[in-house]
Amino acid sequence: MTTSPHLFAHRVEDTNPQTNAAEAVDWCRYAGAYDQMATHNPAYQDLIGRYTRTVRSWTIPAGALLVDLGAGTGNFSQELARSHPDSRVLHVDCDKGMNAAAGHKAASSGLRNFTILEQEAATIDLLPGSVAALTVVHALYAMPQPEVLIERVSDWLMPGGWLLAVDPGAPIDLGAWSRYLIASNLRSLGPVGTARLLWKAREAIRQNRRIQKAQSNGVYWRHDAVAFREAFQRAGLAVLESATVYRGCSDWLVARKPAVDGLIDSPETGK
Ligand SMILES: C[S@@+](CC[C@H](N)C(=O)[O-])C[C@H]1O[C@@H](n2cnc3c(N)ncnc32)[C@H](O)[C@@H]1O
Repeated sequence: MTTSPHLFAHRVEDTNPQTNAAEAVDWCRYAGAYDQMATHNPAYQDLIGRYTRTVRSWTIPAGALLVDLGAGTGNFSQELARSHPDSRVLHVDCDKGMNAAAGHKAASSGLRNFTILEQEAATIDLLPGSVAALTVVHALYAMPQPEVLIERVSDWLMPGGWLLAVDPGAPIDLGAWSRYLIASNLRSLGPVGTARLLWKAREAIRQNRRIQKAQSNGVYWRHDAVAFREAFQRAGLAVLESATVYRGCSDWLVARKPAVDGLIDSPETGK
């Protein structure tokens, strides 16, 4: 695993309007509690499973560049790297706390095809056609001008390149999630263990409140499944799969960049 700010990309101007926003989500503080919650959230673990099965079904040329955007603590980017050990996976996230957590995990599991890039998504400039697959899980909504970004990432994909995007399009229902997490953990941890978990995860709960506020007041991207799919179609991608996942809270989409002749011609088409 290596950490390199400039290995594949150069910076352009940072135009993120959320950078200085009052009550902005503090991803760095969230990072300390993120995996605590992720480990004890069965829906998140199911999503990792679905993601892994999907990316494993992809044919990826040896040595190809794969990107996970808004990759956080690396729970998805590292599955991507393990699923395609002959590829080079670029984990991109703007937050140093999230990247530090990802770096520790990659080092302790001995991942060698994994590089962390600490950068704002909007300022990354990869070569057109240089990426064989790109994933973005629960991060697009928080990025400025997500629809412009979708056009840019579509440009980075090579003909036949894969894309997997998962995103919540509506404000999180914090009450429903709390009830779900308490009920699932009461079964496995008991009342004392569950109370301890909630105490340790209080920073995650605080940051989720801020996320919900940013979703409710329109700072973060709101979409339904149709608008989500259309954003990728407008960017020239062929949508192969579209679903609702994560207890009905997130839109899921698998797409491909058409080959030069406009056809998707591999056996994976239409699955
Ligand atoms: C909810 S977390 C999701 C992390 C990971 N994909 C997962 O599902 O576990 C959102 C991540 O997006 C990152 N992020 C938010 N805005 C970003 C931006 N403009 N550029 C790059 N990363 C960003 C945050 O730092 C955070 O790690």
